[in-house]
Amino acid sequence: MALRPYIVGNWKMNGNRAMLAEARAIDRGAQRYRSVQVALAPPFPLLALLHDEVSAIGVGAQDCHAAAKGAHTGDVSAPMLDDIGADFVIVGHSERRRDHGETDAIVRAKAEAALAVDLGVIICVGETLEQRDAGHAEAVVEAQVDASLPCGEGAAAAVAIGNLSVAYEPVWAIGTGRVAAVEDVINMHAAIRARLVAMFGDAGGKVRILYGGSVNGENASVLMEAPGVGGALVGGASLTADAFLPIVAAAAADED
Ligand code: PGA
Repeated sequence: MALRPYIVGNWKMNGNRAMLAEARAIDRGAQRYRSVQVALAPPFPLLALLHDEVSAIGVGAQDCHAAAKGAHTGDVSAPMLDDIGADFVIVGHSERRRDHGETDAIVRAKAEAALAVDLGVIICVGETLEQRDAGHAEAVVEAQVDASLPCGEGAAAAVAIGNLSVAYEPVWAIGTGRVAAVEDVINMHAAIRARLVAMFGDAGGKVRILYGGSVNGENASVLMEAPGVGGALVGGASLTADAFLPIVAAAAADED
């Protein structure tokens, strides 16, 4: 059975307790679109609070450490996320790769730590503008997929139950208002799909590949209709119900 489209809001380092009202409104709105899987990834301090306020949407973190516990000041582990009821974690976002020097190997270790406690995982990949302009976009992203995705039995099991997703986010499209051309999205999703099938066989054909980068209520329909696009990872437009729910509605319309 095909998995539902997956629309995930990444609040990044935004939000406070007052914004839980937006999460509640998103949760109420999501109940009208059961053909879409909706989730929010708030910053750590809001995670447990937001989790207790919603029922229809998934709740996840924006990062986790690769170790289960120990002397890692300021970090949060996958078992801790699982303990407070998180459903999933985003790993390898380009802002973490940039701000915290996360390599593909680190991203893979984090993903494997999350799968070890049965959290869903969204692994982010994407090229910079320099890499695209140099004609290397596909090679860069394929190499990221090969080296960042978890491997081994845990990964195959997660793929089989739809617990692993890939987000293609061209770095130059994030937060810039400059969305990638649909043909480029289609081509890149096909390239990622080929790597997933090489890694996981037929099951790799069902992994949801989300697009991320300046998705909003206006461009969502075109992106969600594009072949191979299984959902969206949304930053700026996920901070209010008014901005986010039209994206969920666009994904639902594509299902009809
Ligand atoms: P944006 O961010 O929607 O604000 O471009 C997307 C992301 O970084 O996940």
